[in-house]
Amino acid sequence: MSGRPDGAGLAELSPTPRLLMGPGPVDVYPQVLRAMASPLLGQFDPEFTRYMNETMALYRQIYRTGNHWTFLVNGTARSGIEACLGSLVAPGETVLVPRFGRFGHLLTEIATRVGGDVAAIDTDWGTVFSVEDICAEIRSRRPAVLAMVHGDTSTCMVQPLEGLAATCRETGTMIFVDATASLCGAPFETDQWGLDAVAAGLQKCLSGPPGTSPVTLSDRAADVIRTRRHIEFGIRPEGYIEGEGPRITSNYLDLSMILDYWSPLRLNHHTESTSMLYAARECARVILAEGLEAGFSRHALASRALRAGLTAMGLELFGDEAGRMVNVTGVHIPGQCGNGDAVRAELLEDFGIEIGTSFGHLAGRIWRIGTMGHVCRKANILRFLASFDAVLRRHDVPAEPNAAVDAAAAVYAAEQDRTG
Ligand SMILES: Cc1ncc(COP(=O)(O)O)c(C=O)c1O
Repeated sequence: MSGRPDGAGLAELSPTPRLLMGPGPVDVYPQVLRAMASPLLGQFDPEFTRYMNETMALYRQIYRTGNHWTFLVNGTARSGIEACLGSLVAPGETVLVPRFGRFGHLLTEIATRVGGDVAAIDTDWGTVFSVEDICAEIRSRRPAVLAMVHGDTSTCMVQPLEGLAATCRETGTMIFVDATASLCGAPFETDQWGLDAVAAGLQKCLSGPPGTSPVTLSDRAADVIRTRRHIEFGIRPEGYIEGEGPRITSNYLDLSMILDYWSPLRLNHHTESTSMLYAARECARVILAEGLEAGFSRHALASRALRAGLTAMGLELFGDEAGRMVNVTGVHIPGQCGNGDAVRAELLEDFGIEIGTSFGHLAGRIWRIGTMGHVCRKANILRFLASFDAVLRRHDVPAEPNAAVDAAAAVYAAEQDRTG
């Protein structure tokens, strides 16, 4: 029956409920799932364009920015990254990429593909750069764009960004940041840190589905993009003047056209992804209703409890302590567990919990455990630790019974005492 090409005989889609504690996607806020089930509206329906404007306003608060140009690029997080780099970097321009994990390599790849001349610097995975070291590179190479990852999920490390802007202003360098993994999980200050372009996705600490990318652009960045303005032949308004700069190579990810679509001109580019806009708007609404600071505290508490539990089991956390992200924890895989895949499979099959491994030379060497968005609740952390403990015991990893759950519960109890 299931082999029939027309799909007849297949049961209605009914995915097994999981607890998603990998590096993303993670559990989605229930309100977001409900919003996505709402009926579609036409893209120029005044009610829908009002939702677009509301989404811009909500993400200004999420990004902590006054940037007018704060909007969505349809596609997963890398669509926002590629739209920013492809629209900011002109062919032949130097792009400095400090890399501390897999996603720095992604920035290199994208910046190279759009014609940039990439100068990369590397630090060992599990460490991050000092701001002074990056500033020294900026002064010596004077790049047009500095492209940085904030939290790199592959290594579970977070790069400090404060203090880069002053040097970048001296050298006329734009700062692009990939905030996919950190936004809403820990403080992120677009304006205070002087960032020019930032892109993210919904499927991490925003607790939505993958599929649209919130982007914010400073006026400086928008001005550069405007010099490359191009409008498709069939929709050019009267008096249209083509930008003098080199045309952005991608049509779909041309931010000059996307800005026109998100402006009062509403010049048609793509058809805004209706249900994903509902999702993005609802993610931001739920997060701001909780309060950004309260959300950061909830992430930090879940992370502290998780790490207390893991260390109580005798496991070793990955990476330099000072540079660790709040919302994804790397754990060395004990020798008894081989590459760790059997443990992950048992956690999934027997306990319904997903965690991740990593990439490159860290594949099979660390597990990655996410505490992001809706996942960050006491019951989830305790359920995970009890299940993990049971699976590791089967693999002869010795741990004092209940030590992990007790240690995590003690963190929550101490927080309860502190806050009353
Ligand atoms: C830091 C970072 N950047 C970019 C991406 C790419 O995101 P997407 O898969 O949504 O394109 C990810 C995904 O894990 C990520 O963690």
